Amino acid sequence: MLDNIRLSSDETEVIILDQTKLPGKVEYLRLKTAAEMREAIMTLQVRGAPAIGIFAAYALYVLAKSIPEQADFNRTLKEIKNSLNSTRPTAVNLSYALERMIIAAKKAGRKREKILKALSGECRQIQHEDIAVCRSISEYALTLLKDNWGILTYCNAGPIATSRYGTALGGIFLGFERGYKFNVYCCETRPLMQGARLTAFELSEEGINTTLICDNMASRVMSEGKVQACFVGCDRVAANGDTANKIGTSMIAVLAKHYKIPFYVFCPTSTLDMNCKSGKEIIIETREEAEIHTGYFRERLAPDNDSLKIYNPSFDVTPANLIIAIVTENGICKPPFEESLKMIIRKKASK
Ligand code: MRU
Repeated sequence: MLDNIRLSSDETEVIILDQTKLPGKVEYLRLKTAAEMREAIMTLQVRGAPAIGIFAAYALYVLAKSIPEQADFNRTLKEIKNSLNSTRPTAVNLSYALERMIIAAKKAGRKREKILKALSGECRQIQHEDIAVCRSISEYALTLLKDNWGILTYCNAGPIATSRYGTALGGIFLGFERGYKFNVYCCETRPLMQGARLTAFELSEEGINTTLICDNMASRVMSEGKVQACFVGCDRVAANGDTANKIGTSMIAVLAKHYKIPFYVFCPTSTLDMNCKSGKEIIIETREEAEIHTGYFRERLAPDNDSLKIYNPSFDVTPANLIIAIVTENGICKPPFEESLKMIIRKKASK
């Protein structure tokens, strides 16, 4: 498994695995400036809800270190936080991690050195916790799986989107380590191909039986009886269990219901947004048209004229009634989600 986010040894840069270069090249980027860090999130050089949060926390620490002595430290820190937070709207983990950093800074008092020390500890702690969280999600996930099952997954919720095991892929990796044989169907995930480039890469490199399919083949594969469970990650879960994930996820959930295949969502408890009543309140990121009309094609594929419109919503919301369970590090939530999600939040708070 590849190392995805870390600080440079002198702590003046954040080093990330450039996810846009995979699977062709394993290339690391050293990011120093606020502009480079914003760009890394917006262009998906670093992506996946937990990974964005971890990265943003390290970025805030590194940028805080270079706030000039004469500047108002706390105000500048908040400006940097807001700027990082505005890069992508859908994944709650971004604002969650940045908010934790600001709270840590506030608790540290007024002295710059103390605040920097607190920030340095907090970003490491966020990453450290995510490793344990992913491991725990993976253990729960494995209780839902049986040997020789076919599992369909969408987008990428593996180690490079998180820490170590990942969320939706965690149970698969853990099961594989323990001798289970799975057949994993990866949807390629148009338009940015996270399934083809990242999930297929992570699973097949480990030696897990992996089959890549185009997104529009999911129904066919399910109808052939090849899929016993659908496993996906998510970017934000509303209080009623509606779940935002990569565009196309809800299509898989609708199909799964039709074919009576259980559809599971995996996420850290930090992805639960109890301030958001339902999926209607989740902001869906819209991205550049070029991702669709050109994207990974050698040349522009779609007609180039003023009458053609292109719409590129990057996420969709899977309604709670299509989800069998939401699996977190604190347990498995089943419907009614209004109740079970609250219980999980309480369990986390009491730890
Ligand atoms: O646009 P992306 O690639 O960041 O979208 C990512 C997803 O939709 C993932 O499934 C989600 O962030 C969960 S990652 C554990």
